[in-house]
Amino acid sequence: MTRVAVFPGSFDPMTNAHLDVARRASGLFDRLVIGVLNNPKKQPLFDTDERVDLIRRSVADLGEHVTVDAFDGLTVDFAQRHGAGFIVRGLRAVSDFEAELQMALTNRKLAPGVDTTFLMTALEYGYVSSSLAKEVAQFGGDVGPMLPEPVAEALTERLRGKPRV
Ligand code: PNS
Repeated sequence: MTRVAVFPGSFDPMTNAHLDVARRASGLFDRLVIGVLNNPKKQPLFDTDERVDLIRRSVADLGEHVTVDAFDGLTVDFAQRHGAGFIVRGLRAVSDFEAELQMALTNRKLAPGVDTTFLMTALEYGYVSSSLAKEVAQFGGDVGPMLPEPVAEALTERLRGKPRV
């Protein structure tokens, strides 16, 4: 039996916490599709194509069974389109749990055949989030420890010359 999982998220941008989860999941599943949500209601710093490209470059060493795709709409529909029986989400701390539980239960109601699996982020990345990384970069801080190299470069470049609010 082929075990296929999707790892959905906003990934604006991908962090080392996300990458750590992707790496762990890549060892557990035969195929892993990282799904970048294209949410027209949000104004991301990186557009969908840029986020997909940055993730592809960041996960290049994980193997050909790891792919990246953008999606609109429901995560469970995205999972089913890819023949995935699992959704992967990362947990950094207890504070993530409540929202994740609600999402997992919603997704199970929508698609009982798709199960959510949680992976604990490595302790060293427990503090890392996309929004904090953007804030640190905006004020000239070093985002190297928080982000995959292609992402750190792109973020620094994107925010260069932007007024610090
Ligand atoms: O990286 P994020 O922002 O925590 O990811 C949240 C995401 C994209 C997984 C979640 O918002 C989502 O699944 N959105 C798609 C819409 C959907 O399926 N909603 C119902 C389940 S909560």
